[in-house]
Amino acid sequence: MVVLALILGCFAVAVRVFFTRSLTEELTNKLIDLGEGAAANARFENGRVKIENEFSILNIIARHQALQWFDTQGRLIGQQGDDVLNLPISLHQSINIQIENKTIQAVTLPIIGSDDGKLIGYVRASQSLNDFNATLNKLDWGLSGGILIAMILSSVGGVLLTRQAMQPIEESFQRLKQFTADASHELRSPLMAIKSNATVALKYPKGMREADTDKFQAIVSATQQMSSLTEDLLFLARTDNIPNLKRDPVNLAEILENLVIQYKPQAELKQIHLQCAIGTHLYLLGDAIQLIRLFTNLVANALHYTSNGGKIEIAGNLTGSYILVKVQDTGVGIAPENLEKIFERFWRSDSSRSYHSGGSGLGLSIVRAIVQNHGGSIAVTSELGVGSCFTVRLPASGV
Ligand SMILES: Nc1ncnc2c1ncn2[C@@H]1O[C@H](COP(=O)(O)OP(=O)(O)OP(=O)(O)O)[C@@H](O)[C@H]1O
Ligand SMILES: [Mg+2]
Repeated sequence: MVVLALILGCFAVAVRVFFTRSLTEELTNKLIDLGEGAAANARFENGRVKIENEFSILNIIARHQALQWFDTQGRLIGQQGDDVLNLPISLHQSINIQIENKTIQAVTLPIIGSDDGKLIGYVRASQSLNDFNATLNKLDWGLSGGILIAMILSSVGGVLLTRQAMQPIEESFQRLKQFTADASHELRSPLMAIKSNATVALKYPKGMREADTDKFQAIVSATQQMSSLTEDLLFLARTDNIPNLKRDPVNLAEILENLVIQYKPQAELKQIHLQCAIGTHLYLLGDAIQLIRLFTNLVANALHYTSNGGKIEIAGNLTGSYILVKVQDTGVGIAPENLEKIFERFWRSDSSRSYHSGGSGLGLSIVRAIVQNHGGSIAVTSELGVGSCFTVRLPASGV
């Protein structure tokens, strides 16, 4: 639209300039013709300019035009027409003068005696440019109206065309999402079967070789990992398709406190100091299961990416009509160039792959999807080697 507006603007300016130039030129030429006709009609008689044939001159003067004759000293001798100029003559060939609300164009020409070729006086032809200005005004309106209509038509056309062009893309995108949802759904049962079979086999190790136990253990943990991956994929595919959200009153303070209790032993194992400062009355309308999943992912990340002896702080407060939850750690941090990428699906920093090998890189994508589902936002600040702080902002319900 901006490009189109620029093109149309350049076109309008070009038309305006060209039109004004040629019209001014034509008007000036006509005025010069009139002045030359009037000069030819003047004669020198007894030391004075005498105007011949006043009647025929009256005929050639159009409306808004005027003629004035001067002697060589610049004294006015005679005049004809409506819009005469009450100014002393100036010897500029052509001038435009603004008087009150009128613009007048005047052309001054010398009168040369036909017998001796001497200067005997001057003639000044003038005309009001009001009609000309009115025409330009109309042109301006016409051009801007035309541009406006063209812009409206092209934007409507653009929207329609884009919609039509986007339709197949959107359809295939939709099919892709559906496929992800279906595939993850279908993978659930075979994975379950593998896992339960391996677990049963481990329960009765009689007749099993020693080395096979480890293999079955590996199968169980790999299946566990695949199950959580397919669960995550299914969740993302489902929230993409329909942002389905229950709207129950949820006490976020309770969820956060339970989370702290749940993760305390894991933090103690790593000698991480897990601190919490959770306010009361943190109520919002939403889906408790999704909210638990949101903060579990954030706290799990903080635990995974903080080395032994670090500190994790969870703070929840009501600020105005929003609930702000901060999960801050003294962990490995995220490089500034990666801050944008961490919410992308399957993105993991290279160091994280060795740090926490079980992850899939879907955790924060799920976090963001849940926050958006609840009409909130998430922000992150981080410094490499110092720590990260994730701030979730959710609309409070005030229950
Ligand atoms: N608290 C944090 N400190 C440092 N880096 C983090 C932190 N949280 C996330 N990251 C970085 O962002 C990446 C993406 O996180 P995300 O939770 O999406 O995936 P993940 O933790 O690797 O795997 P999972 O799917 O199991 O959560 C991580 O691999 C890590 O590099
Ligand atoms: Mg994670």
